[in-house]
Amino acid sequence: MTRRAQILAELELTPLWLHRRRLDEAVATTELPCLANSHLMVPEQRTGAAVRPVEDMDWVELREAAVACAACALHEKRNQAVLGVGDEKADWLFIGEGPGAEEDKRGEPFVGQAGKLLDNMLAAIGLKRGANVYIANVVKCRPPGNRNPTSEETHACQPFLDRQVALIQPRLIVALGKVAANTLLARDGTLGSLRRTVHDYRGAPLIVTYHPAYLLRSLTDKAKAWEDLCFAVEKMSEISRAAASAD
Ligand code: URA
Repeated sequence: MTRRAQILAELELTPLWLHRRRLDEAVATTELPCLANSHLMVPEQRTGAAVRPVEDMDWVELREAAVACAACALHEKRNQAVLGVGDEKADWLFIGEGPGAEEDKRGEPFVGQAGKLLDNMLAAIGLKRGANVYIANVVKCRPPGNRNPTSEETHACQPFLDRQVALIQPRLIVALGKVAANTLLARDGTLGSLRRTVHDYRGAPLIVTYHPAYLLRSLTDKAKAWEDLCFAVEKMSEISRAAASAD
């Protein structure tokens, strides 16, 4: 066992995963500057390295980190973390709010009623879950009672989403609903004010549409959601054409 491993074991830090604040406290008391600025750690036994920041993780590590994450209170009541599903090199990335009861049970985003509608929305523009499409949420654990995630929870979870975006490198992100849109754009706008514009998230174009669960309750806005999907298809064609002519 390396000296670093011994110290981590003494501190009971392995094989646990630590949130940055707790880790930084441990670093401060043990004067281990090499551990500073780590966020989430991967188990030492798998990587051979004591710590690895989330922004360097591969998909396997990211999944392990999500499963073990205790960075916010949502981990206390979850059945499982729901990282995301689909093509890990997709052009399309759809981002919702957070897993519901069914997703928490099955470990996959959008598998309940809202998920059926999302699948239909995808089909309407010639897309299919898993085929050039990745689906994720801004928080990976279920907010109890279907409440919105708090800003503390979305903030704690953001490194996971950021790493997913960096790994996937989508051509277009579609934010589903106000919570996802406002979280990703770090603002507090109405959904109406955010639609029909190409925004930016970590260098990727992002557009906003209604959340499928909202559309299940508000049939009149389905027409607007259809407009948004057409807008998304138009933008994707432009982006793909620009990429092809740059090659
Ligand atoms: N609503 C979401 O925002 N995400 C899911 O995964 C399911 C329902």
